[in-house]
Amino acid sequence: MPQHDTAASSPPPLVAPTTPNAEGIARAVTALDTGQLVAFPTETVYGLGGDATSDAAVAAIFEAKGRPRFNPLIVHVANREAAEALVDFHEHARKLAGTFWPGALTLVLPRRDDCPVSLLASAGLESLALRVPAHTVALDLLAAFARPVAAPSANLSGAVSPTTAAHVAGSLGDAVSLILDGGPCTIGLESTVIDLTGDTPVLLRPGGVTAEEVEAVIGALDRPENDSDAAPQSPGRLLQHYAPECPLRLDAEDITPGEALLSFGPHAISGAATELNLSPVGDLTEAAANLFAMLRELDSPAHRAIAVMTVPGTGLGLAINDRLRRAAGPKKPTP
Ligand code: TXA
Ligand code: MG
Repeated sequence: MPQHDTAASSPPPLVAPTTPNAEGIARAVTALDTGQLVAFPTETVYGLGGDATSDAAVAAIFEAKGRPRFNPLIVHVANREAAEALVDFHEHARKLAGTFWPGALTLVLPRRDDCPVSLLASAGLESLALRVPAHTVALDLLAAFARPVAAPSANLSGAVSPTTAAHVAGSLGDAVSLILDGGPCTIGLESTVIDLTGDTPVLLRPGGVTAEEVEAVIGALDRPENDSDAAPQSPGRLLQHYAPECPLRLDAEDITPGEALLSFGPHAISGAATELNLSPVGDLTEAAANLFAMLRELDSPAHRAIAVMTVPGTGLGLAINDRLRRAAGPKKPTP
């Protein structure tokens, strides 16, 4: 921790969301420069950022989230040139970056020999996950800091990802020095993760860019179904990952007493203690943006369970169903 900071320039001990104007960005840069953690908005979810080149800062991210050390982090950069300084790009990577960056697509690529990113961020792998976020606040921060920023979603490990600054403040408390408030995230689901280290590109995590959109650019993706808690290829694939406290019941067609209803589109199900509709008109983009905030809102001891209606599995529905399945998955034993 820096001792030379004056009281006036030190971040406050308890975190109120900060307006992301020039002064807010400057404070965030100072915090990152001194090894502290900063939460910032992206178009997908809020990230918990730290200087990716600092082992101590990256370790602090794992600590703040209670995240298993074998689960590597996504590193954020301001543009493709910054990414190419860290990893080996090839044709597929160039095409995908050219099409989707800035955007909700993360590319896993081989680390360059001179890659300055902390090995901790790669969790012992020879690869690094990178993306350029499509959010002016995130891009302002990355441009001003001028170094890569490691940032997983700004929630405790295993909990639902934050899509507002208030979600971040509520779950991470003072582990984060500053929260840049950019309002609600427009996409509301994490980025799509594609592994480009092997011969065939692999969809490691469905997300904000649809698998169909990616396949239109580089051809067929491997879509492994081998979810496993034992040896996750991408640890974000842990069976239970985005979980509320309340049990989830998927593909609900009716309500049993005491259940809340997370609905989708027009329907005739009645009797729910509380109902929130992901998208009354049945629009998947709107549903993705609402998913995490609505899961949080229904996650109350007042509800015996959350009954979730079926959401179609195409386009963004693939990522929505992925998060719902994990949220409903078997509880992991607490370590
Ligand atoms: O939308 C997002 O991606 C958000 C925002 C903040 O950018 N970030 C995010 O990061 O979701 P995180 O750390 O929670 O998710 C990282 C995902 C995990 O599924 C992790 O296992 C995978 O990326 N990952 C990271 N590095 C990897 C690597 N080298 N090889 C394979 N998978 C990797
Ligand atoms: Mg996460």
